[in-house]
Amino acid sequence: MSTQAGRTQVGIIGAGPAGLLLGQLLHRMGIESVILEQRSAEYVLGRIRAGVLEQGSVHLMEQAGCADRLHREGLIHDGTLLSIGGENHRIDFRRRTGKTVTIYGQTELTRDLMDARAACGARTVYEAEDVQPVDFNGDHPRLLYRKGGVQHELRCDFIAGCDGYHGISRTSVPQAAIQLFERVYPFGWLGVLVDRPPVSEELIYTHHERGFALCSMRSHSRSRYYVQCRLDDRVEDWSDDRFYDELRRRLPRETAEALQTGPSIEKSIAPLRSFVAEPLRFGRLFLAGDAAHIVPPTGAKGLNLAASDVFYLAEALRDYYQEKSKAGIDGYSARALRRVWKAERFSWWMTATLHIFPESAGFDRRIQRAELDYLAQSDAAQTALAENYVGLPF
Ligand code: FAD
Ligand code: DHB
Repeated sequence: MSTQAGRTQVGIIGAGPAGLLLGQLLHRMGIESVILEQRSAEYVLGRIRAGVLEQGSVHLMEQAGCADRLHREGLIHDGTLLSIGGENHRIDFRRRTGKTVTIYGQTELTRDLMDARAACGARTVYEAEDVQPVDFNGDHPRLLYRKGGVQHELRCDFIAGCDGYHGISRTSVPQAAIQLFERVYPFGWLGVLVDRPPVSEELIYTHHERGFALCSMRSHSRSRYYVQCRLDDRVEDWSDDRFYDELRRRLPRETAEALQTGPSIEKSIAPLRSFVAEPLRFGRLFLAGDAAHIVPPTGAKGLNLAASDVFYLAEALRDYYQEKSKAGIDGYSARALRRVWKAERFSWWMTATLHIFPESAGFDRRIQRAELDYLAQSDAAQTALAENYVGLPF
């Protein structure tokens, strides 16, 4: 089979939020990129995932020139509710930190970035098969892939591995060069998307004896609800009625009574995992977003961490091309990992505090109750939660 050759400055693997945002930030800095994505654009847009953006992520969307619709349609939230033992406690982000968060679905953010990329004429190859980063330890890295039966070779200055947890970038690195840190949790989240107005103006994170629940939203007319489920649960076992019954049982009585239900338009189970790979740079290959780390969803950090990685990486590449400085690319891994580990800590803490651990009894359960009691009463504890939830600076 003959090979078609091409060239770009930065070859990006993956057209999720990390890859697309990186591409757009680089474009605004005058740096060219090509994105290789294994799926179709429709498939990428069909994945229902995150919904909460930190202010820093919103600023990055502005910097990328992609924030018009986000500003028009995003919902600004000044706080959130914690329901503990049937009682609501409000955490006021604005008063405690001066910051807010914005509700805007990952699907919408991805669509805006895809549209902007198409409008500026930057190249994305969808349905690229068998993508492989090679020679990234030398000065001339390449991306090999197949498209429509034709073999391609893309020569690059750098490769950005933005291909998520199951991607090829991280696994292309020799095992001896990478260290992995992981915690797997003994439960999952069952999520339902429904075209009904949200039950509450703000998100409700609920700790209940039957398990964690979360009332979230995508807009004034679309709600996203989650309940903690067993790892061996299957989506088919959960009819809409069973889901709403379980959700109601975990919510405070007035909230349960106000819940508007309807046919689910999406229903899925996500396992919960904490995971970090170190370092994030291997010669001319960089890892960013879920390719490098996973957080359990409690606290809504996954997408926001992908955004801060990409910010550090775009700055590093700008310094390389514009200032002929290697300091940014040399420092990328350490700089990004400092923020990653703080978000890992927060997501782990939110998960441990709010869920019911099946094996937990006696001492552990009492400590968890004390933690919740402290959180419900302590100004300092609520401020710490707010500071982390709205996002640590980057
Ligand atoms: P991804 O979004 O995973 O994008 C990676 C892209 O790379 C994909 O398009 C993939 O198709 C492509 N790719 C993979 N392998 C290859 C390959 N070999 N070649 C080419 N392309 C490839 N976060 C929250 O904050 N809140 C949530 O509620 C939430 N829910 C989630 C539910 C699920 C099921 C999952 C998996 C994640 C969830 N997250 C959530 C996390 C959040 O969605 C991610 O952190 C975010 O998508 C990370 O973006 P990314 O671009 O790094 O990775
Ligand atoms: C959503 C997901 C989260 O993990 C979270 O903490 C808040 C909101 C959501 O999907 O809307």
